Amino acid sequence: MKFFVDTADVAAISELNDLGMVDGVTTNPSIILKSGRDIIEVTREICGIVSGPVSAEVVATKAEDMIAEGRKLAEIAPNIAVKVPLTWDGLKACKVLTGEGRMVNVTLCFSANQALLAAKAGATFISPFIGRLDDINLDGMDLIGDIRTIYDNYDFDTQILAASIRTLNHAKDCALIGADVMTAPPAVIKAMANHVLTDKGLEQFTADWAKTGQKIL
Ligand code: E4P
Repeated sequence: MKFFVDTADVAAISELNDLGMVDGVTTNPSIILKSGRDIIEVTREICGIVSGPVSAEVVATKAEDMIAEGRKLAEIAPNIAVKVPLTWDGLKACKVLTGEGRMVNVTLCFSANQALLAAKAGATFISPFIGRLDDINLDGMDLIGDIRTIYDNYDFDTQILAASIRTLNHAKDCALIGADVMTAPPAVIKAMANHVLTDKGLEQFTADWAKTGQKIL
């Protein structure tokens, strides 16, 4: 499973990238707001760090305006994936932009039928939002499973980019179901390294080692 980082925090992206944990980056207007930076400038900086796809989202709502914004965002770097919302206009923009050879990430997907349409429109990535479905007492992971089944039934090339990942179970379940990619905040990716028994075991080893009176260095 590929790991995308869901942030515009350049320091966090660099740290994870140095560890080989970053296959791409996703941003959205809320993430850009949180960064306090200019979208073009920060996206260019991210593209200089990460060689994989970096999603930059259009903000227009009409297809022709989304296409124009998408072309402008794609000029930032060759690894830009233009992010468009899963609306009828977004699907039109997806079709045109992928036809021009650009990567397109169709975002704000909340149903299997929406994901089917995105694949038909040639999306490079489909972004189902797990956490936001869980927020309204639906099971976001069911959606990932349904899309996996549909895409496999018909050999669609569109990659499932599981988004709105909030918990360690989200990450594990996406890997079990076979999402192609998950995008998660840096804190979730780092928390995947934690286990209470690792901490407990290390505490014991450290205490026992001190009792040996030995040194390695
Ligand atoms: C994905 O591309 C989105 O930026 C993101 O995963 C949304 O996550 P949230 O629902 O936690 O805001």
